[in-house]
Amino acid sequence: MLIHGKWLLLALLVVGMACQRSVEVKGRKLSLDGPWQFRFDPQDRGLAEAWYSGAAGGTWRTLSVPGTYNVQVPESLWYQGKAWYRRKFRVPANWPTGGRFLLRFNGVALRSRVWVNGKQVGEHPFAYTGFELDVTDAVQRSADNLLAVQVDNKILDRAIPDKKWHGWWDYGGIFRSVALEWRPDTYVANLWMDTRMLKSGWEFTPTAVLRQHGTDSVDVSLSWVLRDSEGNRVWEKQQGVRLGAGETTVSVRDALNQVKSWSPEHPTLYNLVLRIRDELGNEDSLTIRTGFRQIETRGSKIYLNGEPVVFRGISRHEDHPEYGSALPPELHRHDLEEIKALGCNFIRLAHYPQDPYVYDLADSLGLMVWSEIPAWQTSVDVLGDKEVLEKWAKPQLAEMINQMRHHPSVMVWSVGNEFDSSSPKAAWYVSQTIDFVHQLDPTRLATFASDRHRPGKPKDICWPYADFIAINEYYGWYYGTIHDVGPMLDAVHKRLPDKPIVVSEFGAGAAPGKHNPNPPESGKDYSEEYQVKFLMTHMDQIFAPERQDFMSGAIIWVYADFADPHRVGGPHPKEWSYVNLKGLVTRERKHKPSFKAVQQRFHELAKSGGKNLR
Ligand code: GCU
Repeated sequence: MLIHGKWLLLALLVVGMACQRSVEVKGRKLSLDGPWQFRFDPQDRGLAEAWYSGAAGGTWRTLSVPGTYNVQVPESLWYQGKAWYRRKFRVPANWPTGGRFLLRFNGVALRSRVWVNGKQVGEHPFAYTGFELDVTDAVQRSADNLLAVQVDNKILDRAIPDKKWHGWWDYGGIFRSVALEWRPDTYVANLWMDTRMLKSGWEFTPTAVLRQHGTDSVDVSLSWVLRDSEGNRVWEKQQGVRLGAGETTVSVRDALNQVKSWSPEHPTLYNLVLRIRDELGNEDSLTIRTGFRQIETRGSKIYLNGEPVVFRGISRHEDHPEYGSALPPELHRHDLEEIKALGCNFIRLAHYPQDPYVYDLADSLGLMVWSEIPAWQTSVDVLGDKEVLEKWAKPQLAEMINQMRHHPSVMVWSVGNEFDSSSPKAAWYVSQTIDFVHQLDPTRLATFASDRHRPGKPKDICWPYADFIAINEYYGWYYGTIHDVGPMLDAVHKRLPDKPIVVSEFGAGAAPGKHNPNPPESGKDYSEEYQVKFLMTHMDQIFAPERQDFMSGAIIWVYADFADPHRVGGPHPKEWSYVNLKGLVTRERKHKPSFKAVQQRFHELAKSGGKNLR
């Protein structure tokens, strides 16, 4: 469809490296997962001694990548500092000549610097988003190449996360997959499709980021094809574009009547393929799985595809005693399938972007996703610092959004968790970041999780900037009783009657096998009975019919127990030191009685459209 007689060509600045895990890349891919040499560097000598070069001596052990060194080397569970990885790789002889070599890391925690053949080729200061480095000039085609990575999991004072962070284990390492890719000089670096409901059918805007490494402009033909899950072509467009050097964003806009929408109940997916061909006949393509969906607020309710939606959610960490944060695909799949079987239609990836495969699973299983940057209880002095906003907040938001926006399941971008949102500095941070998120992606909701809701305590002054209010509450665990939830929700609604409310965390610890036949109404009881009583009582109030006009759901804290560095002492059971016990399953994924209780309640709520009819 022509827009005003010419193609809608948007040359937007694409912030952040597009590091998208597509369904299919036409180029070539060499996995670099497997055994790497490894060495701790507690005295931080590696740089001065050039451990990134082949000449470096010293004793290296072998660790497998992806991996979390705090778990792979048990005596280093608490290690925080530098460490080094090295391995060799050879470019496959049958790879095409010319083109670009891209090193793609899906996750290195917390910060990393990368060398190829002794030449530094890049660095990445964020743990939970991927990154790609163009290493074409450093790679030798007909010899072994030495790849070295310096990793650092020391927590920084003024960053995101900052030194107040202690919400989950500070795992270090190359904890997600690594690969070398070959792409032609002109290639599709990113691809997504925004969708909007029309009176009948859907408007959709396939968008791509193209990279051109020549010096002059190049004429490129673009072929866009949309296929349904059976492979039938439902839409196509051809266009010609002249590309200058660097990055160009190209969009086309069209409308279709006969497509099926994506929803948790019917997660209908389509394949969008973009093929490009330059004047020399070089070709590249990128394929993504996408869907037709629209998330929005209308007054005090959240709507999905034009209908009010009620979240039945749960949060999930990437954590396991055997793998640390380097979960294998089969465990990601296990967790997401269990969460779907629990009766959830929503998952909060707390408190950081997770492996790209997790988002793929949410797309196909039908789980709406809340994706968040790790501003976990970050000091407001840090959040209120413009340098931190530009160096840590916006780049992580941009990377998360650019890498995950092609997933139809993503509905919410969150700018953080439980920072002091009663503070003007936090209000500045929230207004700046939510504006930034809306500019980058106006098709999703933006918010943060607040714990400033307790009567008589300083009030949350950031809620007005959020698309909906998200409340982390623990009435009957850390404070108050299990019956205080309803009155609190009513008070917040009274204060902001036109904002939807979601309870973004509520949960109680249960030590497996600990029993109390008469569970209390408050306090850290740690019995399995109290965990059930706590969750059921909270849901009675959250999903009460009289609150349905302003409540849009609840997200339980948390799917599985996880390693938690401040979970020790006081009433915390000694045998479970450093394990957060609020899971519905143990770290080994063994169900607690609460799993079945929640499953029953969520399935009832699914039938009743989110109203608690008990
Ligand atoms: C907070 C926080 C979680 C934490 C939870 C708890 O709300 O967001 O990361 O684990 O409380 O106390 O267990």
